[in-house]
This record gives sequence, structure tokens and C-alpha cells, in this order.
Amino acid sequence: MRISVIGCGYLGAVHAACMAKLGHDVVGIDVDEVKISELSSARAPFFEPGLVELLQEVQATGRLAFTTDISAAAGSLVHFICVGTPQKKGENGADMTYVDAAATALLPHLAPGDLVVGKSTVPVGTAARLAQLVKSSEPAAEVVWNPEFLREGHAVSDTLHPDRLVFGVSNGSEDHPAVAILDEVYEAPLAAGAPRLVTDHPTAELVKAAANSFLATKISFINAMAEVCEASGADVTQLADAIGMDDRIGRKFLHAGIGFGGGCLPKDIRAFMARAGELGADQALTFLREVDAINMRRRTRVVELTRELCGGTLLGKRITVLGAAFKPDSDDVRDSPALSIAAQLQLQGAVVTVTDPKALENAAKRFPELQFEPDMHDAISRADALLLLTEWEKYRTMDPYALLSRVESARILDGRNVLDAEKWRAAGWTYRGLGRV
Ligand code: UDX
Repeated sequence: MRISVIGCGYLGAVHAACMAKLGHDVVGIDVDEVKISELSSARAPFFEPGLVELLQEVQATGRLAFTTDISAAAGSLVHFICVGTPQKKGENGADMTYVDAAATALLPHLAPGDLVVGKSTVPVGTAARLAQLVKSSEPAAEVVWNPEFLREGHAVSDTLHPDRLVFGVSNGSEDHPAVAILDEVYEAPLAAGAPRLVTDHPTAELVKAAANSFLATKISFINAMAEVCEASGADVTQLADAIGMDDRIGRKFLHAGIGFGGGCLPKDIRAFMARAGELGADQALTFLREVDAINMRRRTRVVELTRELCGGTLLGKRITVLGAAFKPDSDDVRDSPALSIAAQLQLQGAVVTVTDPKALENAAKRFPELQFEPDMHDAISRADALLLLTEWEKYRTMDPYALLSRVESARILDGRNVLDAEKWRAAGWTYRGLGRV
């Protein structure tokens, strides 16, 4: 099938490559010339495990092309909209500029029977609004909402092997002609057993907002427990193990630490609250304000703990922050809690050096005032305290004995609760985790 993918960022580039891998003829379209020229040469404009190999593999088949020319969408039966919906500046709501621009640019290239398939995370009501726009130009084209649930760092496998597919069609019915077309698009994952649900437009849009809100709530729940553990001398990691054994609760997404960040969870819960407000249902989501507040409090707590760890003052202290990305196996620094903590420490007088295996270039663009050092051993040299803030494998497996001679003072704050506290203490380190003594 001929498919166009509009927007080639973290979502669209992976989606385009995966659609080609599934056997379709794909054109990826983006307004960013640099991104398109990188992708055209089978280079990924961001770090995502397995993406470069996949781009090389599918481009060799001739089934994947990239362009900045939207007219290349003409002739495709399915047009995926994969552009970003960032938080509006100074407001909680989602900025719909890119979705609206993509849909509008697509209009002259639509033919009868075409599907415009939204994958971006959008405020409920967007699909109905875009359907009106599309119908005004091409009455025989359809809008479908097909939310994407991929996790950065696992984007390729999440796209090729989705845990569910949701098709939101205008009448919410299996009989809708778009369903058969999307069944063909996703033939391979469906044959492999991926469940698929057909819903109406608003339900499909809300599935994504609800899923991300639930995940954010789960993380903030365990971080709230961490606060109580800190106040009472309990250990949040043992508490999470114990409650996670109840399979109604589950251990996943119960890792207490510096909280969630990234390009999705923080802005999605805010956009969801803003949209509920517009719909007169704001009371239903006031708890998300608390989820957000608990999450942001973690960052302040780490700054306070670092001050304690350094003997009561941050002034002039050399702090090394291990990790800049919002999570491991990604170079994405959007709303990264690690960088926000690093910047706060620097503002309060510490001399902060940040290291990360992949995200330093992006980090330096956002926080040019911080110092960056790609070599971990150089970064920790003569440090007064180490802060593990993104749990890359290389930081989880550091040898506490080997690092002793490099630092000025053997102090470590484990912002992700991934180190073996006893081992580090036995090696002579002052160890602090979050939500554990
Ligand atoms: C998320 C959703 O998981 C995904 O389904 C959706 O499509 C996009 O948003 P992503 O942003 O890639 O994916 O990251 P995720 O793995 O969900 O982690 C989000 C943040 O939560 C990270 O900063 C991570 O470090 C943090 N986190 C996660 C915790 O602090 N504790 C946990 O237990 C899990």
C-alpha cells in the first residue's frame, strides 16, 4: 500500500521506517530540510536504538523515501499525521499549530477514498474538527484517529509489535470502510496477535490521554509514597516490591525517583486538564494537578538532598550529574528532570558538570550555561558529589571501588534508586537514595 507519513520526528521517522518494514511503499514528509536530508541518507536525526539499522534495511528495498515536498503525498491511500503537539508557551493546552498546518497542507493532495490517520496525541474533539476540514475539500476522504503508544528507547519494537491498535472512526463501527484499510496496513502485527479495538473518534483520542495520565499517576503515586517513606524512615523500593506483587497493582511504573519527564507525560497531563476545563469537566481531572505537583516536588527535593549531602551548602561545590536525557536509551532532553535539577543546582552556586552517553548535544542547546563532559571519568574527576539522574546501563553498573580515587569526596545521590546501597556504603561512599534511608 502507498502510505505517506507527515512529520518525521521521534514518532513519524520511526513510523515511516516501520511501515516500510511491514512491506508498504512509504514517503516521509517534513518541513525540516536537515532532518529530511539525514533520513534520506539513512541517518537518524535523533538516537533511537535500532532505527539506523532499520532505515538502512528498508531504504535498500526502495520502499522508503523522504522529502520536504508535501505534494509527494498525492497517490497515497493512507496519510499518517505524526507531527508534534507541544505545550503552548505559558499555557497548559496543546499547541495545535503543527497538526492544523499538516492537515491543511495535505488537503489539495487528497483523493476520494483516502484516509487521513492521526497518530499525534491531541485534545479530544480534534478528529471531528479535522474531519470537517477534510470533508470540505474532499468529501470522499475520511479521518481516523489511531493513537500511538510507543515508548522512546523501544520505539521500533513498540511500533512493529504494538500491544494494541485503536482505530477511531467516525461512526465507531467495525463496518466503517476505513477499518478494512487499516487492517491491511497493520496486517503483520494483527496476524501476530495484536488486539485491535474499533472506537469512535473521541474515545480513540481519550484512550491516549487516559493511558498517559494513568502512567503519570502511577509514578507520582510511588513518589508520594517516597515522601512518606522519607518522613518515616521506611524504604520505598521494598514497599514498591511488596505492593507490586499484587497483580492488580503490578510492579511496572512503580520506580520512585526524580519523577517523569520527556516530550509526552508532562505536557499530555497538562493538555488533558486544559481540555477537560474547556469541556466543563475540569473537576474530573483536578487530581492530575496533584500528580504534576508531586512530580515537580521531586526535583526540588533532590536539590535539597544534594545540599545536605554536601554538608549544608552548594556554594562552590563540584557536582557531577550522571545523565541528561529524560530516560536511558534516548537523547531526548525535553523536560528532562536531570537537566532541570542540574540547572537549579548551578543557579544555587554549585559548579555542575553533566555527562551522558548520547544527549549532551541536545542538552547543551537547552542549557548552554552548564558544563558538559562526554567522558564519564573526566566528568567525575574531583567531584564533591555524584548525582545519578538518568539510569543508563553504564551508570547502573559503575564500580564504587574504582571511582573512589577520582572523586574529591565519596558521596553519591542515586536519583533513580538503581544502585546497591550496601555495596556503595561498604566501599566507603556516603549513599543517599530517594524514599529510602
Ligand atoms: C510515554 C508512554 O510510556 C508511551 O506509551 C507514550 O506513547 C509516550 O509517553 P516515554 O515518554 O517514551 O513514553 O517514556 P516512559 O517510558 O513512559 O517514561 C516517562 C518518564 O517517566 C521518564 O522520565 C521515566 O524516567 C519516568 N519513569 C518511568 C519513572 O520515573 N518511574 C517509572 O516507574 C517509570
